[in-house]
Amino acid sequence: MELTELLSRRRMTRSFLEAPLDQDRLDALCAEALRAPTAGNTAGVRMTTVAADQVAQYFDCATDPHWRATSRRFEGVRHAGAVVLVSSRPQDYFARYADVDKAASGLVEPAAWLVPYWHTDAAMATMALLLLLEEQRLGATLWGNFRHDERVRAWAGLNDEVLFASVLVGEPDANDPASTSLARRVPSRSQRVRRVARRTPLDD
Ligand SMILES: Cc1cc2nc3c(=O)[nH]c(=O)nc-3n(C[C@H](O)[C@H](O)[C@H](O)COP(=O)(O)O)c2cc1C
Repeated sequence: MELTELLSRRRMTRSFLEAPLDQDRLDALCAEALRAPTAGNTAGVRMTTVAADQVAQYFDCATDPHWRATSRRFEGVRHAGAVVLVSSRPQDYFARYADVDKAASGLVEPAAWLVPYWHTDAAMATMALLLLLEEQRLGATLWGNFRHDERVRAWAGLNDEVLFASVLVGEPDANDPASTSLARRVPSRSQRVRRVARRTPLDD
């Protein structure tokens, strides 16, 4: 499949068939995804796979009983055939940017980072994974990390890492409840592409 087609086909899938995903296959896809760019060649992103028989435990940690009892989405996502936890190691970026060839960046102190590259790298690798999954005709949903962070990290053994997101993976069952986010009126993609106005150069 061409990349343009992969990009246009990819959509979050929030309802899966009850079918386990082969963990070796998923590990291999994660390793491919980690070809994504990484600042300073730091390689500080990790992908930790959760096998089908661990998915229920993952949901026990990542969600709460009230959500599981009331969310219209739980029934669909609980059948995910696997989960990928995408995490990063900020300490590796601090160490890398303290190296002689990067010291001039001034990025040794955590507070100096206007853009935390560990998140940038994690996002790049996550997008690569989503496209690879699409190429395999697998469905995926990205869950941002905004609750139960400590519990998930403790369960998965990500003690000195920052959890970026979880990617729920599985065979789509085509019963997705429509996402309310998609009903939002947003600027079109072409409206979000802009050009800098031509101006006289700024003085130094
Ligand atoms: C940083 C980030 C966090 C997200 N968190 C969630 C989430 O917690 N739950 C969810 O169902 N979708 C989540 N999404 C998916 C978005 O809702 C989805 O990408 C968006 O509505 C556009 O739909 P599409 O990806 O199907 O084109 C997240 C996406 C991103 C990039």
